[in-house]
Parts: sequence; structure tokens; C-alpha cells
Amino acid sequence: MGKSSKDKRDAYYRLAKEQGWRARSAFKLIQLDEEFDLFNGVTRVVDLCAAPGSWSQVLSRVLIKGENFGRRAWLEQREREQRFVNGQASFDDSVTLHTAPNLQPRENVKIVAIDLQPMASLEGITTLVGDITHPSTIPRILKALDPDDYDPKQSDSSTHPVDLVISDGAPDVTGLHDLDIYIQSQLLFSALDLALRVLKPGGKFVAKIFRGKDVDLIYAQMKCFFKDVRCAKPRSSRASSLEAFIVCQDFFMPKGYSLDQPINLRTPVPRPPRPIKDGAPFIDGQRRSTRGDGTIVLEFESDEDDDSGWIAPFVACGDLSAWDSDATYQLPANHIPLDPVQPPTAPPYKRAIELRKKQGGFYGKTKGQNDGGLEKPFV
Ligand SMILES: C[S@@+](CC[C@H](N)C(=O)[O-])C[C@H]1O[C@@H](n2cnc3c(N)ncnc32)[C@H](O)[C@@H]1O
Repeated sequence: MGKSSKDKRDAYYRLAKEQGWRARSAFKLIQLDEEFDLFNGVTRVVDLCAAPGSWSQVLSRVLIKGENFGRRAWLEQREREQRFVNGQASFDDSVTLHTAPNLQPRENVKIVAIDLQPMASLEGITTLVGDITHPSTIPRILKALDPDDYDPKQSDSSTHPVDLVISDGAPDVTGLHDLDIYIQSQLLFSALDLALRVLKPGGKFVAKIFRGKDVDLIYAQMKCFFKDVRCAKPRSSRASSLEAFIVCQDFFMPKGYSLDQPINLRTPVPRPPRPIKDGAPFIDGQRRSTRGDGTIVLEFESDEDDDSGWIAPFVACGDLSAWDSDATYQLPANHIPLDPVQPPTAPPYKRAIELRKKQGGFYGKTKGQNDGGLEKPFV
């Protein structure tokens, strides 16, 4: 697909280039912040699976430079206009502020970003190359947070507390939905395990999920550690995709929970026998009955204390006037497609492209020039 065609079909891809974001994902974080006020009071953040770095850019511009985006920027502007209307600011001030926003950089900001891929540097952000599923990554992140105070024997979330952990991690998709969802959930558990080790009490965790058929298990597990858990779908995330974000707020460490035992290996707690409610007993949490008209009714047992069937509230976020990520927009005839702001520095497919080029594929020979019109296999 050419750049121009992609500009038409993906409004956020085009906007990202126009507004200087490294990836369209920036809008997802901005829209999540609009809904949940994620950055309120936040100064220390870990950005997992961060390359090429658009979420880190948002963090840098909001926390370090003190800029506002989306709803926050709109509210700021409305406040200024109100001051002008109330006679507290001159028209010139109001116009100047419109073009030169009032920056409010925060103090003692620390942002650590990590990815398997190297990431082009960003001012004020510590970037690491590493695998979040590997245990050696945790001490590296703790050390990057506070290099001067790091002590390998004593460092943990109490010595290096973090306000917010975000993870936009996604493995290379295979197209086999069940496998992709499984690999994604493993990445999510690694992100959560890492978050549990650095978050301060009351901290927040935001991570990408795919809403597969067992997504309620993810909600239930998050609910063990966060008082408020929601599933959010920003407008910039395609409606046609299973992608969503789990937004977990108000972190607490449950009594007796051991960080030494990885969460995805925890033995499930056996369910105690349920008391019989009205009618027939529930077997394995469900019961069937037949109504007079022959309709079979299937009921599921509900138990307030049982988190295993808990469903997180679903929130669609982002202004309704925002661009529709599934729509194709007509572009002006003189539209010039821009190049991406920051192409990946070393993507896993880099070598494949080089080999293709060498063989005359992609940008060299076209179909028909090879034997039978097929690309030659790599050698
Ligand atoms: C959708 S991209 C992230 C985009 C990023 N949030 C941004 O705004 O630019 C997903 C990233 O997850 C990374 N990733 C996948 N598995 C990982 C792992 N085990 N450890 C670290 N990063 C991983 C990939 O390298 C990829 O860069």
C-alpha cells in the first residue's frame, strides 16, 4: 500500500506524521488520558515495549515539557477564554496564549522506556533494549530509575516507586488468533509482574490486551491488585480489531502475595462448595431448567466474592468528534504524503528487506522478471 493510500485509509497514520509523532499509537495514549486523567500527579513512569517511541514522546511532552493535548488542551484553552470574557486577561493575551500555550513542566520527572528493538533517543528519557519477559530486565529498570541509589540487594518498589506503568506490547502476529491472543497474554503477565515490582501503592497500570474469549480471566487477575479496573477502547484503535487497553488504577499488594512466584504459575484456588440458592443446585457454577413453553434457561451462579466471573466495565474513549480509525477519508488533490517521523532503527524485518533488495524484489525487479513471476527464495 502506498503512503498516499495509507494516508487516506488511516487518518491517525496521516495525523501522526503531520503532528510529529513516531507512531499513530500516540493518539491511543492521548485518548486514554482524556478519559482517565492518567497523567494527573504522575512524575515517574515506566514505558514497556516502547519502540518506536510515540508513547514516550507523549510522556516527554506532557511531563517534561508540560504541554497539554486533547481534552486537557481544550480545557486549558477554554479557561483562558473564560479569563478574557471575565476581563482578567486582554484579548492579545488570550490570542498569544492560544498560539503559545502556557507550559507547566513537572519537577523530578523520571521516564524509563524499554523495548526489544533499539529506539531513537528522546530528550529526558532513559531508553533500554531488553526483553520484558526476562527476569534480568527488572534490576535493569530499577537501576535506570535511580542509578545513584540502586542497591542490587535492597532495591524494590519501596526504594524505586513508580506512579504509572504503561505497556503497548505486541508480539509479531501470526494470524492464528488463539496463538496471538495467548502470546499477547504472556506479554501482559510479564508487564503486570514488572508493574507489581515497581508500582507504588495507589499507582496505575495500563496495558494493551486482545479481547479474546477468556478476557474475563485477565480482568479478574487485574482485580486482585487494583481497586479500579476498566477495559477501554480509544477511537484511534480500529473498531475492527480485538485490541483494547486495560486501565487499572489504585494499586495495592494483596496480603500474602509473593512476588517470587510468577503470577501466571499460581495454582488456582479451589472453589468452595456453593450453598444451594432457590430451585435446583448449581453444578460447576451453572444450572439448566426448562420453562413451561419449552425454553431451556441456562443460569450462571453469581457470587459477589468470586472474582473469576467479574467483567470490567467497558469504556469507549476519545472525543466523539475525533477521526474514525475505520473510515477512509478523501484527501485534497494536492495532498503530499509525508515520510514517517522516525522509522524503526533496527526492525526485525530489516535483514529481510536487504535480502529482497539484493535479489531485485520490492524496489528493484518487478513481477515477471523473476522465474514465473515468483520471487526467488532467500539464500
Ligand atoms: C505496538 S509496538 C509499541 C508502540 C509504542 N507504544 C509506540 O508508541 O511507539 C509493540 C512493541 O512491543 C515490542 N515487544 C514485543 N515483545 C516484547 C518483549 N518481550 N520485550 C520488549 N518489547 C517487546 C515490540 O518490539 C514493539 O516495538
